[in-house]
Amino acid sequence: MDSRPIGVFDSGVGGLTVARAIMDQLPSESITYIGDTAHTPYGPLPLAKVREYALDIMDALVAHGVKMLVIACNTATAAVLAEAQERYDGELGIPVLGVIDPAVRRAVSATTSGRIGVIGTQATINSRAYPAAFEKYPEAYEAYPDLEITSVACPAFVQLVEHGITAGPHVQRVASGYFGPLLEAEVDTLVLGCTHYPLLQGAIGYVMGEHVTLVSSADETARDVYRQLAEHDMFSHQTEPVREFYATGDPGSFGPLARRFIGPDVGYARSTKELDQ
Ligand code: DGL
Repeated sequence: MDSRPIGVFDSGVGGLTVARAIMDQLPSESITYIGDTAHTPYGPLPLAKVREYALDIMDALVAHGVKMLVIACNTATAAVLAEAQERYDGELGIPVLGVIDPAVRRAVSATTSGRIGVIGTQATINSRAYPAAFEKYPEAYEAYPDLEITSVACPAFVQLVEHGITAGPHVQRVASGYFGPLLEAEVDTLVLGCTHYPLLQGAIGYVMGEHVTLVSSADETARDVYRQLAEHDMFSHQTEPVREFYATGDPGSFGPLARRFIGPDVGYARSTKELDQ
């Protein structure tokens, strides 16, 4: 029995989609979540800056006593996953998971045409972390020798979500403005390569059409969390797990939005200045 919390973070509310999936699949686990709202959005920043912010947050979560780190952000996964694994898992035995490989795994098993779309922040798309992750699945190229990945950055999406705007004609218009290359490529599977995007999936699915399978990394990442807990014999069996939500910016605006998106589990959000270390 290991009742230490799982540390989860993102630039803002997006990573809550991953936290929700972890709570659903592992309801006895405690979670400490940080939204780096003082620095959101990460997408337009250089990866070196995202790396710096992400390491600060992971250092704080480790000092707080987490047993595992989940980088619930594609941009930060692209920026720092390998380094974080070395720094925390290699040196301290704290496993670190990202969200890109889980999404790719799901997309590879979902496609029936080999034409896959990826949408994400500008930084994630520029990093080419997704095409590199697909290359790790040779079976996908065996099944579809012409496997085609069409990647599109959707820079306005994160700010829409952070402002609580997730549906309606405006969101659909913004989505239509981005999705031309995906529709032209006739993708049958679309990876929501930013953890904010599942909160827009009604509009994204409406614009892409019902024949397109939307892949979010949340459920698949939670399955990776399960696997890690099993392999390290780290399960918690708490009947009253502790779920704490912190924001580096104003917790007063983060809390209500977070509750709206993932429900009353959020309780009330606090400033990271109150994070015990
Ligand atoms: N939710 C994040 C991601 O998955 C970050 C988005 C942002 O802050 O631009 O990339």
